[in-house]
Amino acid sequence: MSTLNIVGLVGSLRRGAFTRQMMETLPDLAPEGMRITLADIGHLPFYNEDLKEDGKGPEVVRAFNRLIGEADGLIVGSPEYNRSPPAVLKNAIDWLSKEPEAVLAGKPVMIATQSPGQLGGILANYHLRQVLSVTGAIFITGGEVAITGIGKKVSDGKISDTDTRDYLTSHLRKLSALIEAHR
Ligand code: FNR
Repeated sequence: MSTLNIVGLVGSLRRGAFTRQMMETLPDLAPEGMRITLADIGHLPFYNEDLKEDGKGPEVVRAFNRLIGEADGLIVGSPEYNRSPPAVLKNAIDWLSKEPEAVLAGKPVMIATQSPGQLGGILANYHLRQVLSVTGAIFITGGEVAITGIGKKVSDGKISDTDTRDYLTSHLRKLSALIEAHR
């Protein structure tokens, strides 16, 4: 079996973001044969059709589009802003959705949200499903990653809570199975 190349998006730009800590935990938990790398999205311009030439976005967008196109699967990590994903993440998805290669179509996706509060960003989680469903992406079903009270579950920049790490591990296995099922 060849190595699965997974790209993770971090939907929060701030230094020390819980979302980044959650996402930086994942490479440690990846099943054998899965490599997870995190991609930046904060440098992408706001979606603007005037920036396009021949139907294609500027080079930063093209490079991001290639990165996602070459990935076997995607992990979208997000906080919840006013019961929705942050604009920076929506912007990245909007760009990908309008590039000619339609790289999200059929792409296996794991969505992971977090919150210091009691709902784990579940509404952002479902809003992301709504947005990504238009692109033809496919999701893990039968459970969500929506980590509640994350402030008490991290240390040294990663998730340290054992149950949460186990839950994330099980979802990474589900992502692997989803990819294999759609090869
Ligand atoms: C929030 N926060 C928040 N939390 C939540 O559970 N549901 C929500 O709807 C919101 N709304 C919201 C809006 C805005 C504009 C901000 C800045 C924050 C709190 C949020 O969960 C908290 O700041 C997290 O720490 C953000 O994630 P990162 O940046 O730590 O990854």
